[in-house]
Amino acid sequence: MATDTSLSLAFPLASRLNERGRLEVGGCDTIELAREFGTPAYVVAEDDLRARARAFVQAGRDGGHGDFHVVFASKAFPCAAVLELFAREGLWCDAASGGELHLALRAGFAPERIVLHGNAKSEAELRMALRHRVGLIVIDNFDEIGRLERLVGEGALADLGPQPVLVRVTPDVRGETHEKISTGQADSKFGFSMADAPAAIARVQEVDGLSLQGVHAHIGSQLLSLDPFRREVAELAGLGDFPVWDIGGGLGVQYVDEQPSPPPIEEYVSAIVAAAHANGLAERRLMVEPGRSLCANAAVTLYTVESVKQNVSRWVAVDGGMSDNLRPMLYGAVYQAQVADRFGGSTRCVLAGKHCESGDVIVREAVLDDPRPGDVIVTPATGAYGHAMASNYNGVPRPPVVFCRDGDARVVVRRESFEDLAARDVV
Ligand code: LLP
Repeated sequence: MATDTSLSLAFPLASRLNERGRLEVGGCDTIELAREFGTPAYVVAEDDLRARARAFVQAGRDGGHGDFHVVFASKAFPCAAVLELFAREGLWCDAASGGELHLALRAGFAPERIVLHGNAKSEAELRMALRHRVGLIVIDNFDEIGRLERLVGEGALADLGPQPVLVRVTPDVRGETHEKISTGQADSKFGFSMADAPAAIARVQEVDGLSLQGVHAHIGSQLLSLDPFRREVAELAGLGDFPVWDIGGGLGVQYVDEQPSPPPIEEYVSAIVAAAHANGLAERRLMVEPGRSLCANAAVTLYTVESVKQNVSRWVAVDGGMSDNLRPMLYGAVYQAQVADRFGGSTRCVLAGKHCESGDVIVREAVLDDPRPGDVIVTPATGAYGHAMASNYNGVPRPPVVFCRDGDARVVVRRESFEDLAARDVV
């Protein structure tokens, strides 16, 4: 058993190994959580979410940039409890669809603090955003300008006055990340090319019902170096003089100890503020849209080992997998795992999920302490894009989300039931 009780940065700030050698998250013993709420379960250190939101906001202040706003990319963890928490912390919300817009409004985000994104927004989604007068609609393409022009001319919507908008560009700045989550390159489905950007800006400025506030870019996700962000700001600054500059999200997080460490939130924000000031944007509104860096490390997933076998490798199979964490399968994402009450150990094994696919592996090269059926396994850094991308594949009900704080645990998303699996069937 590990004697060192300091945990990897991948774990929540509010977590530790207790006197019994068990992982505690938000003051709650994970073995007891597994017993009480079942597994798999997403366990969130509520105070972590808060601390990271405050770190972003404070970093803007410390950087001397008064007009700095933090927009939670709700796609990372779209559940009411998380949204409400960030709304109360004064963040804005990035909604990438009508559904996310609905959830954001329902969670109490003021419409003027919501940013609507999307490269294929439907007329219904645009209408919904206009009707609620969201803070910003981020325009992605010429078709959308035409559609918005028509909609803002309609009687009831025209009466609401001009809708504030941004123009999204793809600045041809690549960060180092998985191809599937790289978005800043010239050949991208997102936003206007730099070549088209001036025409897009001019075209938006011609529409009476739209009020162009500025530009937006999002160059990619899980970025571990700050340079691409600096280059992004410099590229955007060349587009003109606007009141609002939205730099997007993308700050990476710690998943495993072997990876490069992500820059701390403070460094990321101060790099963006410095780049903005260096490019003449000191007096302008700056916005960032973190998703992953606000919530990934705030949560762990608990599983129970169901079987252990030796087929060349040692295969340790748990009661979840690609239905609660699609990231290994989709991006080859790496995670670490531990037995929740026996950290450390030296048993090399493959931590596999329960789904009917060989690719359903959670950790390819796990090292655990002699895992046995019944053991509770914990994988940290599952707060972002885990619950968000969960599915019912193989008829597996999606896990609950449990918020933990000062030793108290409460379910904020209940586990799905078997009946839920048939709830939409029309017989
Ligand atoms: N803003 C925009 C316009 C975005 O498209 C995204 C993420 C964000 C902000 C937030 O980025 P973040 O700070 O979380 O990196 N499912 C993938 C991640 C996809 C990110 C899509 N857009 C994953 O699990 O890695």
